[in-house]
Amino acid sequence: MKTLLEQPGFLAPSGTIGADVSYLLALVFTILFLVAWAMAKKGQGTRHHKLALVSMVSMIVYFCAYYYARQLGVLSFEGREGFGGPDEVYENVFVPVLTIHLILVTLGLILALYMIPLGFRASENTGGDYRLKTGELKMKPRIFKIIMFTILGCWALNQAILLAVRQNPFGASVAYGLIFATIALVVSLEKLIEKLLPDGARRHRIMGRTTMVIFALILVTSTATYLMLYVIYPHKI
Ligand code: HEM
Repeated sequence: MKTLLEQPGFLAPSGTIGADVSYLLALVFTILFLVAWAMAKKGQGTRHHKLALVSMVSMIVYFCAYYYARQLGVLSFEGREGFGGPDEVYENVFVPVLTIHLILVTLGLILALYMIPLGFRASENTGGDYRLKTGELKMKPRIFKIIMFTILGCWALNQAILLAVRQNPFGASVAYGLIFATIALVVSLEKLIEKLLPDGARRHRIMGRTTMVIFALILVTSTATYLMLYVIYPHKI
């Protein structure tokens, strides 16, 4: 798989299949999300809900596959060796753009995961049509506790499986620990967000627009990274 991804690409003369496919998919997902935004703006709640859901699920599947295929990382994979430009451009432009890109991708994934349940909680389905409902939207303390204990239980189960099947589970343990901790943090943040934006419909609109803007910025930063690596400053052999 790794060898296939390293084959010459089809978009730019020095690109690779891995880089081209990942860039094209990033483009497709961002466009799908922006179309979902346009649908919401036109008041097409149900079509918006379906498209946001499908794009989100395919984006997560793609990220997992990509993570396994390329062993996480433009930074480690393409690093300094992949960049053929001068040192000042690498340090002052390439690294900051790539760092911002990775931060935005992490934030975008977390926000999208948060937005899906919020979409269902903040809307009501009348006659097969989703509409946002105005009014206070709060998670009940009992539900909050159940969710937190479920996350804890899943983490413990995952730890037990890792210890049973892996020879050296330390790295995987830390990685999964961070993933579960992030999910727990997002659920806890909901308590703070509830105080700042008590109205569910307004919360979905404001958080949703922020998420969409982040997706658009991800496209800008991934385009800049792609252009720098494979078009403007390709690696000289
Ligand atoms: C990644 C996930 C999602 C994002 C980023 C998102 C984003 C947004 C945004 C930005 C708006 C307001 C549009 C505007 O006025 O600018 C909106 C409206 C809306 N969203 Fe979402 N949304 C997501 C998922 C969902 C889901 C899963 C549902 C339903 C279950 C949903 C239901 C709605 C409804 C009903 C509206 C109101 C449309 C109208 O004004 O009639 N959303 N969403």
